[in-house]
Amino acid sequence: MTELAHFLYRSESEMPPNSDAARDLMAQAARINGELHLTGFLHHEDGFFFQWLEGPLEPLDLIAGRLMRDPRHYGVTTLSRDQQAERRFNGWDMGYSTRADRSILAWLADHGVAPWDRRAYAAGVLSFLRERSGQPEG
Ligand SMILES: Cc1cc2nc3c(=O)[nH]c(=O)nc-3n(C[C@H](O)[C@H](O)[C@H](O)COP(=O)(O)O)c2cc1C
Repeated sequence: MTELAHFLYRSESEMPPNSDAARDLMAQAARINGELHLTGFLHHEDGFFFQWLEGPLEPLDLIAGRLMRDPRHYGVTTLSRDQQAERRFNGWDMGYSTRADRSILAWLADHGVAPWDRRAYAAGVLSFLRERSGQPEG
C-alpha cells in the first residue's frame, strides 16, 4: 500500500482572489496534481492562502518543496505535516474557495479556535476546508 501524507500550511500573498493569476495558478495546480495523484483544497482570503495537499509521500514532498520556493507567495508557515491513513479530499485535484464563499477568519472565530493553540488551529483549518468541499464531518 502506498503511504499517504498531507501538508497543511498558511502563506501570505498579494494575489487577488478570483483574479486571472489565481485562475492560472489553480489550473496549473490541478493539472500537476492530477498527474501525481495529489488531492486537496485551497482557501484564498485577505492576503492569505490556506492549503491542504495530500497524496503519496514522494510526489507530496516534491510539490511541497516547489511550493515553498514559489515567489507567488511568501511566509509559508507549516500548520501540519504528517502521514495519514486515508485521503480527506478524495476527488479534488485542488478545490478553491474565497471569502465570497465563506470567511475562514470569521469561521475560526465563530468556532472558538484559538490561533495560539497549534493543534486546534490546524484541526480548525482542516474542518473549514472539509466543510467548503462539502464533507463537514471532520
Ligand atoms: C498558493 C499556491 C498553491 C499551489 N498549489 C499547488 C498544487 O497544489 N500543486 C502543484 O503542483 N503546484 C502548486 N503550486 C505551484 C507550485 O509552486 C509550482 O509552481 C508548480 O508545481 C510547477 O512547478 P515549476 O514552476 O517548478 O514548473 C502552488 C503555488 C502556490 C503559490
